[in-house]
Amino acid sequence: MKKTQDTLTRTSLSIWWFFILLRFHDAFALPIPEVLVSARSLYNSMSDLCACDEGRFARPHSVTITEFGAVGDGVTLNTHAFTNAIFYLNSFADKGGAQLYVPPGRWLTGSFRLISHLTLFLHKDAVILGSQEPSQWPVIDPLPSYGRGRELPGGNHMSLIYGENLTDVVITGENGTIDGQGAVWWDLYHNKSLDYTRPPLLELVNSEGIVISNLTFKDSPYWNIHPVYCKNVLVQNVTILAPRESPNTDGINPDSSTDVCIENCYISNGDDLISIKSGWDEYGIAYGQPSSNIIIRQIIGDTRASAGIAFGSEMSGGISDVYVDGLVVTHAKAGIRMKTSRGRGGYVKDIYISNVNISNTEWAIEFTSLYGDHPDENYDPDALPDVERIVIDNVQAWDVKRAGNFHGIQELPFRDILLNNVVINVTELTDVWNCSYVEGYSEYVEPEPCVELQTQGGSLEPSYADGSDDASFSDI
Ligand SMILES: *[C@@H]1O[C@H](CO)[C@@H](O)[C@H](O)[C@H]1NC(C)=O
Ligand SMILES: *[C@@H]1O[C@H](CO)[C@@H](O)[C@H](O)[C@H]1NC(C)=O
Ligand SMILES: *[C@@H]1O[C@H](CO)[C@@H](O)[C@H](O)[C@H]1NC(C)=O
Ligand SMILES: *[C@@H]1O[C@H](CO)[C@@H](O)[C@H](O)[C@H]1NC(C)=O
Ligand SMILES: *[C@@H]1O[C@H](CO)[C@@H](O)[C@H](O)[C@H]1NC(C)=O
Ligand SMILES: *[C@@H]1O[C@H](CO)[C@@H](O)[C@H](O)[C@H]1NC(C)=O
Ligand SMILES: *[C@@H]1O[C@H](CO)[C@@H](O)[C@H](O)[C@H]1NC(C)=O
Ligand SMILES: *[C@@H]1O[C@H](CO)[C@@H](O)[C@H](O)[C@H]1NC(C)=O
Repeated sequence: MKKTQDTLTRTSLSIWWFFILLRFHDAFALPIPEVLVSARSLYNSMSDLCACDEGRFARPHSVTITEFGAVGDGVTLNTHAFTNAIFYLNSFADKGGAQLYVPPGRWLTGSFRLISHLTLFLHKDAVILGSQEPSQWPVIDPLPSYGRGRELPGGNHMSLIYGENLTDVVITGENGTIDGQGAVWWDLYHNKSLDYTRPPLLELVNSEGIVISNLTFKDSPYWNIHPVYCKNVLVQNVTILAPRESPNTDGINPDSSTDVCIENCYISNGDDLISIKSGWDEYGIAYGQPSSNIIIRQIIGDTRASAGIAFGSEMSGGISDVYVDGLVVTHAKAGIRMKTSRGRGGYVKDIYISNVNISNTEWAIEFTSLYGDHPDENYDPDALPDVERIVIDNVQAWDVKRAGNFHGIQELPFRDILLNNVVINVTELTDVWNCSYVEGYSEYVEPEPCVELQTQGGSLEPSYADGSDDASFSDI
């Protein structure tokens, strides 16, 4: 393990000038250390995605929700107060925007819509409470890249806080709380009494210039934070809490979105901490809107189902250029997970995942093409997902049953999967790696990976395979 790091340090300066010019995917024609250097330098060049212009927080105008008749007693329904306040603030949109301030209190509301150039600011003791009456969450048309609600045919309930076609929106506070009171929805789900797909807590559609920061999201009915068809999204310093048993309470799901940074979040929930998506089968393919240029870093969490970081299962518009750096996950099904299926089409490529600690999971890493789960019978079984160029670098895992489960597709295997410095302490003795239709490379991996991940003689042949100390760059 140490050898790799030393060698990287020694070689990286001398070849820096060269790789800065390389696109990540070109680097896969090179030996392993150089792929890593290239990936890391591209990651560094992207980190301004996480910069936050605090000047944006200074809105020239501010109103308090009580000025619009809101009552923070946890009982009075304040949907009209939120709607009226936001309607009023629309007149400041072209004057630098405005802030809606939510003071201490428990502010019960149904779903409401945001506008552009708005800051929604919560006092630390402010709680926006979602109504426990599903009729207060109106049903809207399904997303075109899904073709129907994710759980049921037809539309889906609108998120508690919703925005469409917006620009420059800040949702923040001093760790104030947005509480979906989702238990009633989880019961409806469990007893199969839902008429439409459950609502997220916060959904932003086709919007750009979004900051979501310094808040706690609690007990969402369904996914917590869902930016879809968005650009320029920063999610920073957010806490997401839902019981581990709560169904599908995914933390943050960037979906057909680009230029996204998610950092410094604590997430404890009942499904993926973070899942990157881009539409579902024939609807996602037709809509064709990828997720790309995404940084995810400093994420800590635990969950019941699925993963710390997941790709898919809806990925039909494609996912690329995702950099994950610093993830600690416990109790999931897998630490790192790729979920896809025949019929999805699309691709997942140029992904770099580094510095991950995984414990108490079934698998450390799971990549499956057997996820199934189609919107209807009209998907094209010949639309194959293309999964390639995934780097998994510096992973420690313990108290996990098995190391890696990879099940690709015969006609289009998962390709160029690179594992570097991956140390997994497994508790089972059999099928520790389970690989089919996958091709890749590995360096300093324990336990020794399946042969499919030990490709020799390819363009990516490990440069230290002969045990020598020096990488040879003569063939670049
Ligand atoms: C958002 O933009 C789309 C496409 O232009 C349009 O169809 C839709 O009605 C807009 N939604 C709202 C709420 O303005
Ligand atoms: C995170 O949020 C808390 C509560 O608002 C705040 O005290 C802290 O300074 C924030 N940290 C960062 C890095 O923004
Ligand atoms: C924000 O509040 C949540 C819920 O009370 C708490 O768990 C978390 O530690 C707080 N975060 C910060 C940064 O203070
Ligand atoms: C399903 O759960 C909801 C919410 O708790 C409850 O109102 C309803 O009576 C339940 N229905 C059945 C059939 O159990
Ligand atoms: C979060 O809160 C901290 C402390 O109040 C503040 O310094 C920081 O600018 C806030 N960050 C964002 C992105 O809102
Ligand atoms: C993972 O755990 C090790 C100690 O076992 C620690 O040094 C490292 O910082 C941890 N990584 C992350 C991303 O927290
Ligand atoms: C692996 O796990 C076993 C059982 O929990 C433990 O005894 C051992 O110390 C661990 N080894 C490492 C290298 O963490
Ligand atoms: C290994 O994968 C095969 C399918 O490829 C599956 O049938 C088997 O159950 C897997 N083994 C484990 C331990 O999950």
